[in-house]
Amino acid sequence: MSETAKIELDGKIYELPVFVGTENEKAIDISKLRDLTGYVTLDTGYKNTGATKSAITFLDGEEGILHYRGYSIEQLAEKAAFIEVAYLLIYGNLPNKEELHAFRQSICKHTLVHEDMKQFFEAYPSKAHPMGVLSSMVASLATFYPESLDPNRSPEAKNLTIHRLLAKLPTLAAWSYKNLTRHPFMYPRNEYDYCKNFLYMMFAMPTEEYQVDPVVVDAFNKLLILHADHEQNCSTSTVRIVGSSNANLYSSVSAGISALWGPLHGGANQEVIEMLERIHADGGNVDKWVAKAKDKEDPFRLMGFGHRVYKNFDPRAKIIKKACDDILDKLGVNDPLLDIAKKLEKVALEDEYFKARNLYPNVDFYSGIIYKALGIPTEMFTVMFAIGRLPGWIAQWKEMTENKEPIGRPRQIYTGQTNRQYVPVEER
Ligand code: CMC
Repeated sequence: MSETAKIELDGKIYELPVFVGTENEKAIDISKLRDLTGYVTLDTGYKNTGATKSAITFLDGEEGILHYRGYSIEQLAEKAAFIEVAYLLIYGNLPNKEELHAFRQSICKHTLVHEDMKQFFEAYPSKAHPMGVLSSMVASLATFYPESLDPNRSPEAKNLTIHRLLAKLPTLAAWSYKNLTRHPFMYPRNEYDYCKNFLYMMFAMPTEEYQVDPVVVDAFNKLLILHADHEQNCSTSTVRIVGSSNANLYSSVSAGISALWGPLHGGANQEVIEMLERIHADGGNVDKWVAKAKDKEDPFRLMGFGHRVYKNFDPRAKIIKKACDDILDKLGVNDPLLDIAKKLEKVALEDEYFKARNLYPNVDFYSGIIYKALGIPTEMFTVMFAIGRLPGWIAQWKEMTENKEPIGRPRQIYTGQTNRQYVPVEER
C-alpha cells in the first residue's frame, strides 16, 4: 500500500503522508498542506475530516460496527454494568474487582451537590427545559471547585474532578426534573447502584416507599451503555474543541450538553415522540407523513431516521430494538404511538427514497419509545442521553489533554465583500 498521497496543484506535485489506524482506517495527513502549498481543505460539516487520532471508540459505519476500547457494543450491552463501561472508556481497560469496588466507592462519596446549588434550581422558571438547566448546572460546578479550573494541575486533581462530575450529574439531572414538576428534591441513596440511584432521585417521593422494577433498571443500564461514546460526533467534538483551549472539564462538558440538546443530535429522541404524537393527533396516516419527509419543499424530516456515519444500520438501534420489544412485552405496554412507530418503521424501510439514501431508524428512534414505556417524561429523554454520554465526553477530554493536542481552530474560505471604503452617515 502507498505510504504517501500525491496531490497536484498549480503544476507541482506534493507528497503527503498517509496514516493508517489499528482497524486499517486510512487518512491523508494534511497537517503541513498549507505550509507546503498555500491551500487549505474545505469540508463543511467535517464529513471527510479526521479531527484527531483516538484510541477510545472504533466505529465502522458501512459494516455497522461499534467498539469501545476494542470490546464490541453487543457484548458490553449484554453483560456489563454502566459504571464498568465508564471506567473502561475513561481509563482504557475494564476494571478488576478491586478497581471496580474502589471506583464505585469514590463515585458514591461525591453524589451530593453543594446545598447552595439548590437555590439556582429555584430561580429557574417552572417550565424550564431540563437540558438548559443541566447545562448551566454543570458549568456552575466549576465555580464550586476552583481547583478544577486548571485541568493540568495534577493527575490526582484531574481524577477527582472526573469522579465528582460522574457522581453529581445524575443528581443534577434528577433535580432538573424535580424542578420541572416542582416536587421535592430527593437526596442520593449511596447504597443503590448508579442507575437505580438516578431512578430513585427522579421518581421517589418523600411520602412513600420507593420500588423500582429490576426490568426498568436493566433497560436503563443498557441504554446508558449504548450511548456511552460515539467517537467524534457533534457534542464530543464540542467537548474536545472547548477543552482544547484548556477550559476546565465542567465547562467543556456543559458545552457538550448544549450541543447534544439539538434536535439533529441527542434532541432527536424527544422529537421522535413528539412526531409520533403529531401523527397520531393528525389521524395516524403514516403514508402522508412519509410523503412530507420526502418533499424537499417541506422542512419536515422523519426524526429518528438517518445517521451521519451509519449507512447500513446503526448497531445500537439493532440492540435497542430487541430490548424495546422485550421491555414492552414484559411491562405489558399498550400504546397507540407504538403502533404508529412500527408502521412508520415498516413504510420507511420499504420506501425507495429512504432505501436510496440509506436512511434507517437510528438509536434515538427506539430509545424514545423505551423511555416512554419506562415512564420517563419526554423532556427528560435527552437528559438520559447526556447521562449515558458523560463517560465518553470525559474520556475524550482526558485523551485530548493527555495528548497535549493544540487548540482547535479551523480555517475558512472567505466569501464576503472585498475592500469597501467607509463612508460616514453622520458627523463625529
Ligand atoms: N428524513 C427525511 N430525509 C432525510 C432524513 C430524514 N430523517 N435524514 C436525511 N435525509 C435526506 C436528506 O434530505 C438528504 O437528501 P438529498 O440527498 O436528496 O438532499 C439525504 O437524506 C442526506 O441527508 P443529510 O442531511 O445530508 O445527511 P447528514 O449526514 O448531514 O445528516 C442526520 C444526518 C442524522 C442529521 C439526518 O439524517 C437527520 O436530520 N435525521 C433526523 C434527526 C435524527 O434522527 N438525529 C439523530 C441522529 S442519531 C443520534 C446521534 O448520534 O446524535
